[in-house]
Amino acid sequence: MSRPKVFVTRIIPEVGLEMIRAACETVVWPEQLPPSPEKLRELTADCDGLVSLLTDKIDGEFLSACPKLKVVSNFAVGVNNVDVAACTSRGIPVGSTPDVLTEATADIAVTLLLAAARRLVESASDAKEGHWLTWEPLGWLGQDLVGRTLGIVGMGRIGFATAKRLHHGWGMKVLYTARSAKPQADQELGARYVEMTELLALSDYVSIHADLNPTTKNLFSTPQFQQMKPTAVFVNTSRGPLVDQVALADALRRKVIFAAGLDVTDPEPLPPEHELYGLSNCVITPHIASATIDTRNAMARMCAENLLAGVFGKRLPNCVNPETQNERV
Ligand code: DGY
Repeated sequence: MSRPKVFVTRIIPEVGLEMIRAACETVVWPEQLPPSPEKLRELTADCDGLVSLLTDKIDGEFLSACPKLKVVSNFAVGVNNVDVAACTSRGIPVGSTPDVLTEATADIAVTLLLAAARRLVESASDAKEGHWLTWEPLGWLGQDLVGRTLGIVGMGRIGFATAKRLHHGWGMKVLYTARSAKPQADQELGARYVEMTELLALSDYVSIHADLNPTTKNLFSTPQFQQMKPTAVFVNTSRGPLVDQVALADALRRKVIFAAGLDVTDPEPLPPEHELYGLSNCVITPHIASATIDTRNAMARMCAENLLAGVFGKRLPNCVNPETQNERV
């Protein structure tokens, strides 16, 4: 029996590639930058399975060019690069990698929050550049964390893990918005489910953990920043387009809010000449939230399991469109 053909759009950790190569005819895109849409189409055209990344756009046009495709296994928990409805209408299951990156992502949310609150990048670079002239009573003053209020926008797994760290570690009070109240957050963290306006007005720290969809695009723009405290720190580890970056840059420049920490931007990469890099109260990392060795290995394993299940007609262990799975075992 011939082995299924698959295309993997980037070199993922070997643990996942080994599993895929053992069962499939595998082509791996070897370059650092993603394949162009034309290359992606060309190399997937006769494939049974695809491993995609958040930089690969998987839409209806692409799917029409790949008639044999039985599964799209995305190497990410977010699937906003995939037109899931278009996959579902063709009966193609879409796999993702939930849970395994929750803790690593929450660690980066807290890291950015601390770095922005305590002006870590700004002061470290001042020291390196010779601006550390003496111990200054008024130098590099930041914001405290203990006992302050944290606003979590989107209390899913990552929002909860972030709130847990800050509640138990720094005694923060937790407010959150979400599609519905989360009893676990209320019970374990004493968290309070509130409207966005209340969250913005009361929070000292606001951290976004919502997914990107048409209702969350530009969720944070001028009115939201204006409702926040002038001492507030804003953190985004979800997806860049949730934030209107022109409004954020303006709010940071005019000190409408104190500081921001961003692991995601729009576009990615954010061009080096972008205004946000020039603002000393903005800390930007290059979408590294899941970038630990163990987490990326776990993502690779999960991604391979989803791919293999899909090409062999089985149920995906982690499928975002389970309605495609009804007939499978
Ligand atoms: C995801 O998985 O969605 C992250 O943004 C990348 O790890």
